Amino acid sequence: MTPSSEPWRPFPPLISRSAEYIDLWRVRLGTLGSHEHFRSILDPQELERANRFRFPHLRDNFVLSHVALRKILARYLEIPPQDVRFDLGKHGKPEIRGSLNYGRVQFNLSHSGDWAVVAITQGREVGVDIETFRSDVNHLELARNYFSERECQSLLALPADKQARAFFVCWTQKEAFLKALGDGLSYPLSQFSVTVSPDEASGLQHVDNDPTAVSRWNFASFQPDGNHYGTVVYEKGHCELNQWDWRWDYGLEENAVRVEGFRAAEEK
Ligand SMILES: CC(C)(COP(=O)(O)OP(=O)(O)OC[C@H]1O[C@@H](n2cnc3c(N)ncnc32)[C@H](O)[C@@H]1OP(=O)(O)O)[C@@H](O)C(=O)NCCC(=O)NCCS
Repeated sequence: MTPSSEPWRPFPPLISRSAEYIDLWRVRLGTLGSHEHFRSILDPQELERANRFRFPHLRDNFVLSHVALRKILARYLEIPPQDVRFDLGKHGKPEIRGSLNYGRVQFNLSHSGDWAVVAITQGREVGVDIETFRSDVNHLELARNYFSERECQSLLALPADKQARAFFVCWTQKEAFLKALGDGLSYPLSQFSVTVSPDEASGLQHVDNDPTAVSRWNFASFQPDGNHYGTVVYEKGHCELNQWDWRWDYGLEENAVRVEGFRAAEEK
């Protein structure tokens, strides 16, 4: 499960695509600064959530990740970012409101440290998770609490200097799988196993009571930067992964970047 070393590419002005792609957007977070007006793009629930953060940098990160999410989705839906509406699944997974979503666009968002990542595809469930690497956590203890027996044993079998990194890639795989399912913490983390060895591709190893799950879900691990790990999980067959670098000045030219192909794929 060595993460992809693909570069994050600048987004071209016009792209064509089909449902065979997963677009990962890397968003650099930071302070709102002169972008205080971005708040007007958010809906009242998002603003209320933003205002609950005690620390300004966490509040700004929340606002920026939601503004970027809306601006990115706006391009796929061809509507203004403030018009994007969300519905929540049973366990809180946000989805684009059906009446706006003729192209069956599916997305998932994760934020950690300096980065947010948005995963976007069409007509298939998707989940993404990123985590900031920390050397000061007791990863073996956390693994004992949250990982399956099989994952714990694989982690312990690794050389000590490879365990912390393997732990984080494993963690992002587990969370991204939960997020693709949309079940959050209601799904028992110990009842499925993902790849732990750095020499094997990321992926599901087994799911208790669901022998076909391994063939239904695809995993791809990546790095937003050298200090963050991430995994995207998507259903139904292989997809090509695009890694795009979001730039905040895209927001100044709302219609400069167009996405083509989603309607065409819908009509098939
Ligand atoms: C939301 C959840 C699924 C992931 O949270 P997280 O990793 O802390 O945070 P992320 O930044 O990756 O994801 C948060 C985003 O996921 C989305 N989300 C919320 N609930 C979701 C769900 N049930 N399914 C998928 N996505 C969800 C939202 O867009 C949310 O963004 P927001 O809070 O800014 O609105 C969390 O509830 C959870 O269950 N975490 C598992 C915790 C755990 O025990 N991990 C141990 C793994 S070894």
